[in-house]
Amino acid sequence: MSDYFRNKIHHKEIIATFDDILILPGFTETFEIDLSSSLGKYNFNIPIITAAMDTVTEDETAIKMALLGGLGVLHRNCSYDKQLKMCKNIKRARSFVIRDVATININSDLREAKSLMEKEGISGLVVIDNNNKVNGIFTKRDIPFSEEEVRNGKVKDYMSTDVISIPRESSREEALNILFKNRIEKLPIIENGLLKGLITKKDLKPEFPYASIDNEGRLLCALAISPKFPESVESQMKLKEIDKYVDIFFSDVAEFYKEKDIKGVKKLMEFLDSDFVLGNIGTYEGAEHILTKCDYDTDKFIAIKVGMGSGSICSTSIQTGVGAPTLYATAEVADAIQDYNPKMSLIADGGFKNPGDLPKAFSVGANMIMSGHFFAGCTESPGYIDTIQGRKVKVYRGMGSQNARDVGFVSDRYVDGSTKFLPEGVSSYVPFVGGLSSVVLTLQQGLKNGMVYAGAKNIEAMKKVKIGIVSYAGQRESRPHDLLDNVNY
Ligand code: XMP
Repeated sequence: MSDYFRNKIHHKEIIATFDDILILPGFTETFEIDLSSSLGKYNFNIPIITAAMDTVTEDETAIKMALLGGLGVLHRNCSYDKQLKMCKNIKRARSFVIRDVATININSDLREAKSLMEKEGISGLVVIDNNNKVNGIFTKRDIPFSEEEVRNGKVKDYMSTDVISIPRESSREEALNILFKNRIEKLPIIENGLLKGLITKKDLKPEFPYASIDNEGRLLCALAISPKFPESVESQMKLKEIDKYVDIFFSDVAEFYKEKDIKGVKKLMEFLDSDFVLGNIGTYEGAEHILTKCDYDTDKFIAIKVGMGSGSICSTSIQTGVGAPTLYATAEVADAIQDYNPKMSLIADGGFKNPGDLPKAFSVGANMIMSGHFFAGCTESPGYIDTIQGRKVKVYRGMGSQNARDVGFVSDRYVDGSTKFLPEGVSSYVPFVGGLSSVVLTLQQGLKNGMVYAGAKNIEAMKKVKIGIVSYAGQRESRPHDLLDNVNY
């Protein structure tokens, strides 16, 4: 039985967490640090994930995270319809091929074309005939100046008919070449005269070169999922529809080491095509069980998410006396992964207070980290900006808080699924911190600098760095101290 990572925090039964340890300085060969990591076949340029919480990750956060090279996991405290809409938005946000292309019939009025482009916020339409065959392209540039012509004109008299198209299997580079050579902005994909998609110059621009993308160039989409298999056929069908847009489902439950949840997720995995991250797990034994005794499809089961009761809004540990703080849970599960499936990835979830906690999680075996606390105050996260005593703030609440559970979709995240429940989370405020990219940048810098000091040039090397337990006096000394009260960070 491996105890490499657990021994790093000295003793299995001491439940140490971030503030209890420090990484020891190591020999620095280079300042060139590689922060890339992976979950199964999915690669990420930054190893950071935003939490599946309704005050943290909806489509806006998830899109920004994926554009920057990380991942945002959509929460599930809403209807399947809303979940579907958010997933579709992610897949549309940076698609190199647009599938649901806006079209207009060749016999339509110019007025109709103009208002359709305005309504959809797009600059052109593919013109089709009554048999759905492509006849031309009509763009904003084809709209005549004269008001009268706009009022009386027909699309067929103003569209361009020499449509340059591209075969379905063409590469990004081939598409770019044709667009530049012909000085055009839109390139329909046409097969047997029928429209199969559209490539636009705008979508091909590598504005976010580090984005987390699928093999069609679309952003990766992750969604929280209840471990309970839906009972009604209608819900099952909706979930199947959502599955088409999702790459990774994250089983969303405070503690996963339960017969009922293990079985529920197994059925879901058999029913759905997407990959799965399972969790949360807190101990070696819990990880050993799901790695060896549950007969999960190992192609689809790509990562374990760990930690229980450490989140900044969690009250599970004080309400129930049970918990597995994130650093401890990471070391426990990392050893089980070494023993039973070293290819399995590990996500350390929650409890991060400072950028310096990130390198600590990687030093005990994490591949990626998840946080809600760092991101709830961002512009992109759901909710309004409030002002309290002159400070701008946003609401941040636990999914086990009374307020979140009142919405009605997450009670099965905890032990009791009934309406009378024990709150296991709280609701409060966090400072408004502006755009998400600046938060990610700060975390990246903390992580990079930590890795330089530790002498590790990538995430795998971080797993080998030395750490030590800090005495209480050491903890006090490791942060700003003996100053007047107002410290500016
Ligand atoms: P941070 O520290 O980033 O933690 O705020 C976010 C993680 O906390 C978990 N979570 C909860 N845990 N009660 C809990 O015990 C809750 O109400 C709750 N809501 C979220 C979750 O794993 C999240 O990623």
